[in-house]
Amino acid sequence: MSKKLWGGRFKYSTDKEVELFTSSIEIDKELYKYDIKGSIAHVKMLKKQKIISPSDESKILKGLKKIEKEIDDGKFIFDSSLEDIHMNIEHALTKKIGNVGKKVHTARSRNDQVVTDMRLYTKDSLKNLHYHVKKLIEALIKKSEKSIKIIIPFYTHLQKAQPILASHYLNSFIEMFLRDLSKIEKAYEVADSNPLGSCAGSGTSFNIDREYTSKLLGFKRTSRNSLDSVSDRDFITDSIFTCSQIMMHLSRFSEDLILWNSYEFNYIKINDKFTTGSSIMPQKKNPDVLELIRGKCSQIYGNLINIMVNLKGLPSTYNRDLQEDKIPLFSSIKTCTECISIFSNLINSITFNENVIKNSIENGFMTATDLADYLVKKGLTFRDAHSITGKLVLYCEDKNVKLSDLKIKEYKKFSNKIDIDIYDYIKLDNSVNSKKSLGGTSLTMVKKEIKNYKNIINKKYL
Ligand code: ARG
Repeated sequence: MSKKLWGGRFKYSTDKEVELFTSSIEIDKELYKYDIKGSIAHVKMLKKQKIISPSDESKILKGLKKIEKEIDDGKFIFDSSLEDIHMNIEHALTKKIGNVGKKVHTARSRNDQVVTDMRLYTKDSLKNLHYHVKKLIEALIKKSEKSIKIIIPFYTHLQKAQPILASHYLNSFIEMFLRDLSKIEKAYEVADSNPLGSCAGSGTSFNIDREYTSKLLGFKRTSRNSLDSVSDRDFITDSIFTCSQIMMHLSRFSEDLILWNSYEFNYIKINDKFTTGSSIMPQKKNPDVLELIRGKCSQIYGNLINIMVNLKGLPSTYNRDLQEDKIPLFSSIKTCTECISIFSNLINSITFNENVIKNSIENGFMTATDLADYLVKKGLTFRDAHSITGKLVLYCEDKNVKLSDLKIKEYKKFSNKIDIDIYDYIKLDNSVNSKKSLGGTSLTMVKKEIKNYKNIINKKYL
């Protein structure tokens, strides 16, 4: 006869290899606090509904709290032959308080228990992730305020395009991370539904009070369909997608910083604390943290595909494949949170090499578009203005000079609309500050946006 908690109908005990293969304890022991929390709420409800007696309730609650303390203190021995965290705890409970411990599983199945644990875990983890993304945004706001006077180039096709404020660049990532905060809030909302009491998948004949358990566990909603409740993992796909999107933003940011930290660009300096050396080339100081963030991003995309593929072919309700949902979720949440946290500190440690950037933006005809706009304002069509400016750039390239080096007489050869005021017009700071359109890079606009971000972030909480 099998000694398993479910062993009644089995003549023989499980093959050892199968036992190890089906066990998930090494992964799902992470859920112990949520499992105990869920059981406590369940038992309180059973007592309230007179399904178990007050004395049984009190024994079970005491037992569960003792088990929690043992796990907290590292004294609990997890047993892989007991499959998972649910059975490890239930078995320990019965060992501790005797047969009454078995009553904990009245009007409950592991099918609703596991997904309750997972939802509680997800809610807590998303809250923590939200906190870290918020901290990153605050670090970026600080950096943006500090960099308000620095002009840098922005690039399209990795070719110098136009001058912008460094703050405008940093603000572009604040926008992305603000969207991520909203995504975390949305994923939290999706996870905030209590499946406990759905039992194996059809509900129960016991007179349970599911709304009461929801209240005890802090769930905003109680799920409405028992079949869906035991198989719904949308909250996991949403959470992993949210992590993927955050990692994509971090990875793109990292890519810029890696480039800018290269010897060839040399636009930024990353503090030694956030770089590492080479074991062979003594001169090296590598941006490994940023490279690892870029690398870890693919791991999380892998997790997203993993869960999506797991779910797509499942027959309705609970199937054991769902046990595999933990690895991608835990890995995504942990990696993403860790990356966000380290990135916030790294951002604080970055300085712009202002002289190098200044030299770089002097070259590359970065205000050519301003010159074309100038001609349009003097009455030319944009296409004609574009063509004249293009010819001027070619002329400068041939002579190896900048647009600002040209004499007014030379300008006049290309268009008699060009006057002496052109020199002011194509100055870098004038170029930047002329971009007063909504969302543009002018100082007034950027300052306004920073103020706006501060207001938004103060109201963001989960
Ligand atoms: N360890 C399982 C999981 O994580 C728990 C649910 C098992 N249910 C079952 N009927 N085998 O999904």
